[in-house]
Amino acid sequence: MCGIIAYTGSREAVPVLLAGLRDLEYRGYDSTGVAILDDAGGELTVVKRRGKISELDAAISSQSISSAHTGLGHTRWATHGVPSDENAHPHASCGGEVVVVHNGIVENYGELRKELTDRGHIFGSETDTETIAHLIEENLKLGHDLVTSLREASGQLVGSQAIVALSEAEPGVVVGARLGNAGGIVVGYGEGEMLLSSDLAALLPHTSKVAFLDDGQIVRISANGATFATRDGRPAKVNPSTILLDATTADKGTYETYMLKEIMEQPVALADTIGGLMTVEPARLYLDDLGDVRPWLERVERVLLVGMGTSLHAAMVGRWYFEQIARLPADIDNASEFRYREPVLGPETLVVSVSQSGETVDVLEAMNVARACGSPQITICNTPGSQSTRLADGTVHTYAGLERGVASTKTFTTSLAALFALALETAQVRGRISEQEFASHIQGLVAMPEIVGRQLDAFDVVAKAAERFSTTEHILFLGRGPALPIALEGALKMKELSYVHAEGYAAGEMKHGPIALIDQNFPTIALAGQHALRSKIISNIEQIRARKGEVLAIVTEGDEELIALADAALTVPSVPALLEPVAAIVPLQILAYATAKTRGCNIDQPRNLAKTVTVE
Ligand code: AGP
Repeated sequence: MCGIIAYTGSREAVPVLLAGLRDLEYRGYDSTGVAILDDAGGELTVVKRRGKISELDAAISSQSISSAHTGLGHTRWATHGVPSDENAHPHASCGGEVVVVHNGIVENYGELRKELTDRGHIFGSETDTETIAHLIEENLKLGHDLVTSLREASGQLVGSQAIVALSEAEPGVVVGARLGNAGGIVVGYGEGEMLLSSDLAALLPHTSKVAFLDDGQIVRISANGATFATRDGRPAKVNPSTILLDATTADKGTYETYMLKEIMEQPVALADTIGGLMTVEPARLYLDDLGDVRPWLERVERVLLVGMGTSLHAAMVGRWYFEQIARLPADIDNASEFRYREPVLGPETLVVSVSQSGETVDVLEAMNVARACGSPQITICNTPGSQSTRLADGTVHTYAGLERGVASTKTFTTSLAALFALALETAQVRGRISEQEFASHIQGLVAMPEIVGRQLDAFDVVAKAAERFSTTEHILFLGRGPALPIALEGALKMKELSYVHAEGYAAGEMKHGPIALIDQNFPTIALAGQHALRSKIISNIEQIRARKGEVLAIVTEGDEELIALADAALTVPSVPALLEPVAAIVPLQILAYATAKTRGCNIDQPRNLAKTVTVE
């Protein structure tokens, strides 16, 4: 979950590292640090601080750090040891000749720490990471070079890790290793300079030429280029590719938060995604990266969709798409549960993973399980080159641009568009859809950017409705059918941003327990669009109001009966049933945003969270 940046080349390292850390702050914001390797004496200097990058910046400015052209930096999401200056990365070996930054968990660190302590190593932090620095140092002392030392140290670690290290023994060199799925390492190729990072986002301001490490690969960079090796020391061939993603889309621009910018970008993100996957005249899909998996769309007997958090909610909507459009049995599963359940599946099941980052550890491990079962796999992903795109047999890309707000917004709506397109493709391949129906579905989807734009025009009206929630401690979100995942997603947005306790429930489940919570202090947000089994939702709303519960209903424009029934209502334009989730989530995003803002919460960096979850 931590962010890593490393640089070696002709420029001064510190400004590059600090800029990289700012680009990576969404990865973790408990503490930050840099280490630089002095050119002349080959001496390492480490500066690290608890808290945000501004703390580190101030600490660096107050010291006279000699200019250096090689260094690394880290932004931390604490796993082992509280956020503190000592536990911040980089971590040095006892002699200070090696520094390490790390993403992941050294599962056998207790054992290693004891062994190292017994051998005379002195630890300066409570972290698991520090063991790696000491192990590398021991190997350097045996006369190994830095790459070999990292490889030998890696062989002693249990668990998934991404590691980047510097040593005084090799000025101008940075090494990195990817061991398992606890986060990626991307190599950036510049002119007379090279970079490493956990994220594409931190490299794009410098270069579009990048290479991604696979599990078990080790890289060594110097200003002149990169060499790669496998876990057992054999040279590896890793080809760089050119990523066409505009880094400027990652700027906040005039918006006060990334999240607000990303909410407002949804019409464009949707238009880019839809335009990248289909045409209207003629009505045709272009899912160009399905590769060898396309024939499996005809053969499979069921679909299993997996994901985590917001992407799991997208998968839940996707289940409706596969069942309703392709008439294919579809299930969903939480990737972190699926991976440990010894699931019963094989080549008859198409596994569709949804992950905006393509680096969520539970999703990647679920994909490994599915692969071991022989299931064909497709991933829905917003990050080109990420691990999920390399594990899957085929990819449906979303073109939302980089998403920096910790709370996912535009990658949710674009994932729905991609899932819709994949279900349509499946229906077509299986001969389950007439040309007319196909064209009408495409037309429905193509209209969504404009519909979402209209939703955003009502931003102030929705934000005003959110005032009610600034003082409440609990909110119930209810939905039915394809609106149930939207209720769950609305509740997730509300709790992660505003820290209001929010529960998403199937409306039909109300009377089986949750209704006991309802009183005048426990408001409900009811997804009551035209397709959500309207008469049943009306009954649910009546039942809540009969118990003095307050209801804010999300209703279809012009539905006067529901507007009159609820205490307050927000409207969604009338759209085809399966596309209602794309429109209905927008007011819930705005409600969560506005509530968090009124409550003074840090919207882009909610407490305890990080954008990409690379540890269990
Ligand atoms: C939601 O706002 C969160 N950012 C989180 O639930 C996220 O959706 C989840 O961690 C999955 O991330 P992914 O799409 O990158 O796999």
